[in-house]
Amino acid sequence: MRREATTPTVLVVDDEVGPRESLRLILEPTYRVHTAADGAEALQRLATTGADVVTLDLVMPGLRGCELMRMIRSQHTRTEVVVITGSAALDSARAAIRYGVSDYLQKPFDVVQVTAAVERAVDRRRNRERLLGFLEGLGSELRAAGDPFGLLDDRDATARLGALLSTDSAQEPVAAFGVAPLEFFEVLAETIEAKDRYMRGHAQRVSFYARLLASRLGLDGDDLEHARIASFLHDVGKVGVASEILVRPRRLDAAERRILEQHPEIGERLVEPLGVPTTVLGAIRHHHEAWDGSGYPDGLRGQEIPSLARIIQVADAFDAMTTDRPYRRARSQELARLELRRCAGIQFDPELVVEFDTVLDEGACEIDGTLVTEIATLDAIQRRATASWVGERH
Ligand SMILES: [Fe+2]
Repeated sequence: MRREATTPTVLVVDDEVGPRESLRLILEPTYRVHTAADGAEALQRLATTGADVVTLDLVMPGLRGCELMRMIRSQHTRTEVVVITGSAALDSARAAIRYGVSDYLQKPFDVVQVTAAVERAVDRRRNRERLLGFLEGLGSELRAAGDPFGLLDDRDATARLGALLSTDSAQEPVAAFGVAPLEFFEVLAETIEAKDRYMRGHAQRVSFYARLLASRLGLDGDDLEHARIASFLHDVGKVGVASEILVRPRRLDAAERRILEQHPEIGERLVEPLGVPTTVLGAIRHHHEAWDGSGYPDGLRGQEIPSLARIIQVADAFDAMTTDRPYRRARSQELARLELRRCAGIQFDPELVVEFDTVLDEGACEIDGTLVTEIATLDAIQRRATASWVGERH
């Protein structure tokens, strides 16, 4: 059964009958709407009929909204959540975005606002499903191929990704680029990360650190935008790497390492047909080069390594060290900074390590990893909201 051929289902969860019924009336002309008055009823409804989108009040008796949100996100991973709440506290906003909600609205809501938010969530789910289906298929082809580059060389796989995006009925070709590029890349990055629980939020956090560093270096406008896009996409080639290798709870052997080390080239070739700027392609290809020339895939050294790739290296390594990995626990930010300094001039551009140190000294150091993800996500949600409001005014 194709999703596009069916009417999307929305589950409205609110303990107050007033807002619950108004939401039902607003959404019913367009969607199949179910309602639930509390968390238990919502979970039961999800288990029996499922839903594409849940609108959720955070403050309810019984199962708390935040807890319900956590359960929805872990048990119904493909369901999008729109939080609509009377509690406007930043804390609840943070808790909401921690679980990757699609939108966060405050009561009193209006018709336009709610309609736009649910429509975005439905689009997001549809795009995510398509991407996920495509990437799962492509990933298994790549993993099965003895020579993944041979498969990519015939342009078939990447052309199909381009075609997939250009046949989106709801949006223009690669709308993803024209209308909301970052949102598309976020979804793409999240899709990849779904393979590996240790990677969850990695792209968001790397993007956050890379942006801080890039701004510190004076990048702005398109350059800063490219830094963000490249940060999101740097590991996209991991779609061609088996999950068993990505989550192996020990160091990899030589053969496994060779497979893993193909991901920068696979990533570059995968997104090339999407018309991604060459600086972004270069950053994806070269994000595992090393300052002393010992990295891969091309053994570039020093300034030969594109600057965007060098920025991502620092951001990527810092995040990798400060989060749990299959084979070790997270290190403290202080230890991670020492390690960056130790590897300056060996693995990393020494000037960038100094600049990143300054960035951390300026306050980011007090932000823990979870909060970084939250802030980066909040930022993304706000950008989406702003973009849609700007669109609606014209
Ligand atoms: Fe990587």
